[in-house]
Amino acid sequence: MNIKWTVGMKVHEPSIDRGNILCFKLLDHIRIASENETDKEKLTMLLNELTLFIHFHFRAEERLMLDAGYEGYDNHHAAHVNCMESLKDHMFDFSDDKIEEGAILDFTEEWLLKHISSHDRKFGFYMFYRASCASISNTVPCAVELFQKKS
Ligand SMILES: [Fe+2]
Repeated sequence: MNIKWTVGMKVHEPSIDRGNILCFKLLDHIRIASENETDKEKLTMLLNELTLFIHFHFRAEERLMLDAGYEGYDNHHAAHVNCMESLKDHMFDFSDDKIEEGAILDFTEEWLLKHISSHDRKFGFYMFYRASCASISNTVPCAVELFQKKS
């Protein structure tokens, strides 16, 4: 694979975009290490770093959702949990020599791409409309309420 982050993946919530960009940079860094035949111990360290970063990124995103009273939190959180469990399973398989690092990188890139274009983007729109609502009169129906009723 080797998917790169592009502006088309922006969800327009700066902290989420920054985290997603860093995820793809880390993935790219590990793929380069893999292509340079880095030893398994170092690759394991890099993959653990990736897993920890993704976990941190998800937690920060979830805190934003809770602070904003986002109604889609449960679904989004469940998607994060599924990803972390799959990543953990992949890491066990890698440790047991059942898969190579490329399988973990491919899985993570594909998962992030789908997740960003669905769950993260939806939350990004929510935050955008929420900010818009805050800047207009309370007498105008709030776009966030309309957004939540539709989803
Ligand atoms: Fe997310």
